[in-house]
Amino acid sequence: MSIRSQLKLRPRADQRPAAPVAAKMVARGVRVSYGAKPALKGIDLDIQENRVLALIGPSGCGKSTFLRCLNRMNDTIEGCRVEGRITLDGEDVYGRTIDPVQLRARVGMVFQKPNPFPKSIYDNVAYGPRIHGLASGRDELDEVVQTSLKRAGLWAEVRERLREPGTSLSGGQQQRLCIARAIAVSPEVILMDEPCSALDPIATAHIEELIDELRANYTIVIVTHNMQQAARVSQRTAFFHLGEMVECDDTEEIFTNPRDERTQGYITGRYG
Ligand SMILES: Nc1ncnc2c1ncn2[C@@H]1O[C@H](COP(=O)(O)OP(=O)(O)OP(=O)(O)O)[C@@H](O)[C@H]1O
Ligand SMILES: [Mg+2]
Repeated sequence: MSIRSQLKLRPRADQRPAAPVAAKMVARGVRVSYGAKPALKGIDLDIQENRVLALIGPSGCGKSTFLRCLNRMNDTIEGCRVEGRITLDGEDVYGRTIDPVQLRARVGMVFQKPNPFPKSIYDNVAYGPRIHGLASGRDELDEVVQTSLKRAGLWAEVRERLREPGTSLSGGQQQRLCIARAIAVSPEVILMDEPCSALDPIATAHIEELIDELRANYTIVIVTHNMQQAARVSQRTAFFHLGEMVECDDTEEIFTNPRDERTQGYITGRYG
């Protein structure tokens, strides 16, 4: 059976950009170590604007570590050292003038396990705009909350219960709430680390549709262990292995015609 049929790949001609797409973020020679232990051994990767980039690879290969480099979440991990260069719109995100808090508003993150704050649905979404001073009054804040919940595909389900705790929602709804929370500060890039791994197939399908819609306005990087998900939601895929980025190409190319035998082995399930 071909890889294409195993993965139930649909022909997606629209996934092939006619013209080169601008790189929103660029990583060059990114090395990360935890104490003496190397985790990433020099990653070069371009993250194209308004596209979904999937990061795939066996457990422990450094996908989450790389994702955390992009918005400096590794700064908070003791003993973690990051070298190399990462830019956002050409600006060095590790530059001296960059405030990591502001950076994380521009490069938002959604985690594996939905993690709403112990606050109301409304306050979960309003939190970021409040601390970043993005809304000037109550009406404007209401507007931001409503728009974010709509974009996250959750508004219809929560409009009557905005004062209830975020934790009262189902897992899939909580994850969409976390996406609404990320969107509320108008990020340019959204990082998602296995955002569907705690969700059932219906909630997963909902998030996947959402990702496809969101890429019109955002640049998205998603880590997933689910090959079919990578094939469904992304236009570009990068395969990581033992701290290296083995290859990055159009998703269809990676899944039908990988250049490296390690990629081939991984996507056909020979190891992982
Ligand atoms: N906080 C940490 N402290 C020490 N070592 C870490 C830490 N986080 C990750 N590592 C190590 O860095 C390497 C890469 O881990 P990382 O979590 O980035 O992998 P991953 O590809 O996301 O794996 P998974 O698919 O299991 O989530 C592993 O060897 C891991 O043990
Ligand atoms: Mg991980």
